[in-house]
Amino acid sequence: MCGIVGYIGHKNAYPILIKGLKRLEYRGYDSAGVALISEEGNLNVYKAKGKVADLEAHCQEKDITGYAGIAHTRWATHGEPSSANAHPHYSASGRLALIHNGIIENYLTLKENLISRGFTFKSDTDTEVLVQLIEHIMLSNSLPLLEAVQVALHQVIGAYAIAILDREHPDTVICARQSSPLVVGLGSDNEFYLASDTSPIAEYTDKVVFLNEGDIAVLQLGKKLQVVNMDNVKQHPKVKQIDVTLGQLEKGGYPYFMLKEIFEQPDCLRNCMRGRINVDADRITLSAVIDYRKRLIEARRFIIVACGTSWHAGLIGKQLIENLCRIPVEVEYASEFRYCNPVIYPDDVVIAISQSGETADTLAAINLAHEAGAFVFGICNAIGASIPRQTQTGVYIHVGPEIGVASTKAFTGQVTVLSMLALCLAAERKTISAEQYKQMVSELTKVPEKMEEALKINKQIEKLAPIFTYAKNCLYLGRGYNYPVALEGALKLKEISYIHAEGYPAAEMKHGPIALIDSEMPVFVIATRDKLYEKVISNIQEVRARGGRVTALVTKGDEQIRKLADHVIELPDTLECFQPLVASIPLQLLAYHIAVCKGKDVDRPRNLAKSVTVE
Ligand code: F6R
Repeated sequence: MCGIVGYIGHKNAYPILIKGLKRLEYRGYDSAGVALISEEGNLNVYKAKGKVADLEAHCQEKDITGYAGIAHTRWATHGEPSSANAHPHYSASGRLALIHNGIIENYLTLKENLISRGFTFKSDTDTEVLVQLIEHIMLSNSLPLLEAVQVALHQVIGAYAIAILDREHPDTVICARQSSPLVVGLGSDNEFYLASDTSPIAEYTDKVVFLNEGDIAVLQLGKKLQVVNMDNVKQHPKVKQIDVTLGQLEKGGYPYFMLKEIFEQPDCLRNCMRGRINVDADRITLSAVIDYRKRLIEARRFIIVACGTSWHAGLIGKQLIENLCRIPVEVEYASEFRYCNPVIYPDDVVIAISQSGETADTLAAINLAHEAGAFVFGICNAIGASIPRQTQTGVYIHVGPEIGVASTKAFTGQVTVLSMLALCLAAERKTISAEQYKQMVSELTKVPEKMEEALKINKQIEKLAPIFTYAKNCLYLGRGYNYPVALEGALKLKEISYIHAEGYPAAEMKHGPIALIDSEMPVFVIATRDKLYEKVISNIQEVRARGGRVTALVTKGDEQIRKLADHVIELPDTLECFQPLVASIPLQLLAYHIAVCKGKDVDRPRNLAKSVTVE
């Protein structure tokens, strides 16, 4: 939520900042702004309500140059989306400009205190409070900016990633983080980049420093990167090499990132399995399982914590781990788990699943697990993000940057890692036979090909989509492994087309939702051939009997359901437990095409942001 970019060096910062904001727009897009120190030494701020393109249009006629700059794309928390509430915010004298990602929880107390000293505010944001506070501390105590930042941050409760420009020191950008991500890029030519993630930096350098909790970094021209903490203790940042290609950050000819990412899935899963499943496809090796074998196989219980789509992947993980390994698994919304006084045993393993690796609730759930002495295992996509750094071990899904706000390839990547994990643990615990293991591993390696086959139905789905655009409500039904697929299909539709949709276990329909069914209500049923197939057919009959209109996802060659359903979408067959990987594809495509038909901005759905770094 909210994206931060910064640059200081010998190039004009403005185009770098605008390009960086576009790369970060998935994090928020209700307003944007940029601050630069001009050659004449002025600190200029330009802001606009709306997307980064609106900011660009606002700046078009102006001659904007500067070698030090910061920029921000906002997802509103305090104060409506407006130009006044957009960042950067000036300090009272106009000497400082600050951008912020996060929430200052005690901002009202700080604000009242400043008001009592005669300060006034131009915005409703918590961010303006922080910049006024920093300047007040700096001027009233004659402190250098760094010290003033340290004093101010000691007074702040909440989450932040901030960057500050000081008109009096145009050669320096100061930034700090606590519970919100911040990455510094080390350019080749005595220059620094700064961003919420590596996507705005990757084009210029592959050397980055992921700032740690409580770090304050000073980016000064002609000097080495200096990192201290709030008590001015010197930190020793590790420089990491990143491996992000420009192709991964661009649409590559697709109209939307979401469609590109849907189509990337077969290759993403190959990357996810590469080096983990050997060429003969009969053995899975996960270093996390080798390193922590005993801790994992002797776990009393697994607790999966996640949010949104990652939580849906967790529901599939529960079935995989319970079925294959016979270890009990609970799946919790991280946001509920953190406040429900959960029972956590020291011999529990807590699995945190997160695409971004920055979700505030999932991080809080991890902290709770650590406090209880449990072992914490992360399944993440974003390399170097907070969650992989705060877990004892884990597995990256390696599907590349996911930019479309609606998660697609991260979901199938997470399910793939959970499949590999369950198979590894089952082999260690000997809860499945060697033959079964071999057959399942081999089938898992064939899933990318089957996804490729499933993607061929894109045209069919594109043709089908217009008939659903009228719908006000849709129901998604599935059972067993396909129940989380139904939940995920419904979430995708809600997010990007704004059609209300519910996912339900098909048999639960009779206990309430069946009352909603009429000829206006499209019902999508995942009815692939598995052990509950006959039962799902009965559920379809129940819908039909009430005039419901059924679109069924079936296993290729299924003639029985073809006679019952209004529309069928055929899927290649695979093992029941891997069916979610294949069955998710038509549901992602369906949501995508319905949203496109409705003229929605698929990659930037209203009110949403990709990385939910506030609770
Ligand atoms: C849905 C979606 C969200 C995320 C959720 C968790 O398409 O993207 O529901 O899954 O916000 O995010 P991560 O996985 O980054 O923790």
